[in-house]
Amino acid sequence: MKIFTALLLSSLSSVALSAPAPAPADGHHEDHHKDEKRTVVTVTQYVDSNAAAATTASSATTTTTLTSSKKESSEQKRDSGFQDGTIKCSDFPSANGIVSLDWLGFGGWASVMDMDANTSSECKDGYYCSYACEPGMSKTQWPSDQPSDGKSVGGLYCKNGYLYRTNTDTSDLCSTDETSATAVNKKSDSIALCRTDYPGSENMVIPTLVNGGDSQPISVVDEDSYYQWQGQKTSAQYYVNNVGVSVEDGCIWGTSGSDVGNWAPLVLGAGYTNGETYLSLIPNPNSNQAANFNVKIVASDGANVQGSCGYEDGSFTGDGSDGCTVSVLSGSAEFVFY
Ligand SMILES: *[C@@H]1O[C@H](CO)[C@@H](O)[C@H](O)[C@H]1NC(C)=O
Repeated sequence: MKIFTALLLSSLSSVALSAPAPAPADGHHEDHHKDEKRTVVTVTQYVDSNAAAATTASSATTTTTLTSSKKESSEQKRDSGFQDGTIKCSDFPSANGIVSLDWLGFGGWASVMDMDANTSSECKDGYYCSYACEPGMSKTQWPSDQPSDGKSVGGLYCKNGYLYRTNTDTSDLCSTDETSATAVNKKSDSIALCRTDYPGSENMVIPTLVNGGDSQPISVVDEDSYYQWQGQKTSAQYYVNNVGVSVEDGCIWGTSGSDVGNWAPLVLGAGYTNGETYLSLIPNPNSNQAANFNVKIVASDGANVQGSCGYEDGSFTGDGSDGCTVSVLSGSAEFVFY
């Protein structure tokens, strides 16, 4: 099962709710919550290997006040930027925020795909070579022309043996996201958060390792400028492995019953649009095992956070049993693992 989330915002819930992601194939199932008071809907679409889709939604009540929070950071300038046609496809372009994913066996790339979703274990001509950025950053590269069947591709393009940008609006391959969410680990052992490679394979391979007692930024993508799927805004998603699972063991496409990767016990979502940050805890339908941790979303000092959302002893503690969302109107919030 593959998963991606579109965070939809509308002043009229009926508009958001009546605009579900179209089904790429048969087997579409919708389970939207119809509640006129709810203005924010996290649409989570699960696509299995046959591209059959099932959709669930979790919602959060928000106030009508829209507080515009200042964009604290935008593009973080590093070095001189990427030069098209100068780096061989066989040379992974480390640096400038890019992280090599050596354990996957694709030469450091997160995934290598062509427009027909053929995959390759090496970056080669005709393929899009998708890459991971550091925690708190997102890749800037994907082609505006995307596969028509609902799949996505992203990354640099390999042509005549050299790498080229697919979005020439920027020469920074990673850009800093909104800084309105942090993962705080109060456990003694580390937690591997594994973000989906999206647009791209959607595999949960992009690591944020939060050591015991430490914290790391969560990528809150600016949905108004980030990748849109068939016209709909999308958020960042992280599969959360049990405490103690390593990045190499957990940030992979897992196998049935393995409890790691796409079988991890919980999913986090994060996005920013129209001046608000939306943070979600989302169940993973692949997993009915309770995680070996609890998590709650907590307002940082001075922040204005609407809604309550947590996961304790395997159950959600906010609004709704199938996940929950808060909105951060100003300041920031923490996913506190305990
Ligand atoms: C994907 O693989 C199929 C089967 O080998 C091939 O026919 C098709 O041309 C490939 N797609 C691209 C974009 O190269």
